Amino acid sequence: MNKNIIETDAAHLWHPYSPLLNKRNVAEVVSAKGMYLHLADGTKLLDGISSWWVNIHGHANEVLAKAVHEQILTLDHTLFAGFTHKPAVEFATRLLATIACEQQRLFYSENGSTAVEVALKLAIQYWKNKGAHKTTFVAIEGAFHGDTFGAMSVSARGLFTEAFDSLLNPVVFIPFPDGTNDDLVLSTLEEYIRGGEVAAFIYEPLIQGTAGMRIYTPEMLTKLILLCRKYNVLCIADEVMTGFGRTGKKFASHYTTVNPDMMCFSKAITGGLLPLGVTTCTREVEKPFLTDQLHRAFFHGHSYTANATICRLALESLNLFESVDCQENITRIESKHAAFLLTIVNHKNVKRIQCLGTILAIELQTENGSTHYEHEIRHFLNDFFLSRGVLLRPLGNIIYILPPYIITNQQLDEIYTVVDELLIALNSK
Ligand SMILES: Cc1ncc(COP(=O)(O)O)c(C=O)c1O
Repeated sequence: MNKNIIETDAAHLWHPYSPLLNKRNVAEVVSAKGMYLHLADGTKLLDGISSWWVNIHGHANEVLAKAVHEQILTLDHTLFAGFTHKPAVEFATRLLATIACEQQRLFYSENGSTAVEVALKLAIQYWKNKGAHKTTFVAIEGAFHGDTFGAMSVSARGLFTEAFDSLLNPVVFIPFPDGTNDDLVLSTLEEYIRGGEVAAFIYEPLIQGTAGMRIYTPEMLTKLILLCRKYNVLCIADEVMTGFGRTGKKFASHYTTVNPDMMCFSKAITGGLLPLGVTTCTREVEKPFLTDQLHRAFFHGHSYTANATICRLALESLNLFESVDCQENITRIESKHAAFLLTIVNHKNVKRIQCLGTILAIELQTENGSTHYEHEIRHFLNDFFLSRGVLLRPLGNIIYILPPYIITNQQLDEIYTVVDELLIALNSK
């Protein structure tokens, strides 16, 4: 281990969602290849969560790395105001065709939060350009849509937003549709939107990730979207986590029978090599922007918008994602998860276990039955998994497996064995 790196890091760097005086050491990663992260102390970690849900093709994929290298030497980056290039256009058209869902126009940014921010701003300006004043949003309790101000506003109030609550935009939250409260969820939504001030409803389709991998049904989501349609409220599907095969289909929105008006993508979009965010919309949403009047243009643009290298990378990653091999891997992981679920569903330390596509989430029983992100058990879980060479970063007392699609059956079994061992170890806690 390089003490200098760790000490210098502690003296100068900020880590996400962590106290500055962190009693728990960060680990130094020196390289990553395929399914593994290699740490400075020689430890090899099996990446069971695709390094925060991004590396769908594993680490240091050579096809992707070569494409990046070649693109940098051809056209690395150019401003996108007044200019265009093949990587941006090719990726956009390929992605729109893959998403389908009537999505026809696309805006490039750099991450999930900015993809959401762009969607929220587009929604407000869509109504403004049409001469309507609709400036509030509806979201689902427990939502997480990112860390910028707009994205925070439509995210659940709590630990993540606490310091900023008084500055956030007006947003109302409908209850999470947990399978027992459909009527309440629908009537609450109707109550909020019938007044006509709501610009858009934003949701994580079928599964709330950060809230603890909470799953709800496509039927319920379809009903929510239809209700929004009835009251002229735009629907924004935040597919930042669910996109690119995570839920079994290419996009979670493919499970519903109605389409969203806008969609947000990031994370797996580049296979994890470089950052990219994308916001898409239908022809209807673009309509009030189809004008040459400057004051009705969308005034938003990042320096790195449509970076040529990243667009080329995203195209190559999409090629890999759409390959027969990758699609078969997704189906294989799905059935492995489903079979493992059956072996532990009745374990006394398992409160609830859920599976959707390549995501397997296990809510652990706690002493007082509570479930939350800050649950102290997370430290024990983290240490337990790391000591056994597996990277699974729990959300409080919820552990989840969300692997790169290149994971082999043997590697999946290794992770399942460690989970089995954990369930036994919890008996003596
Ligand atoms: C559904 C969803 N939206 C948006 C974001 C924010 O993405 P980013 O961390 O890339 O800003 C996340 C991050 O976890 C997410 O899960």
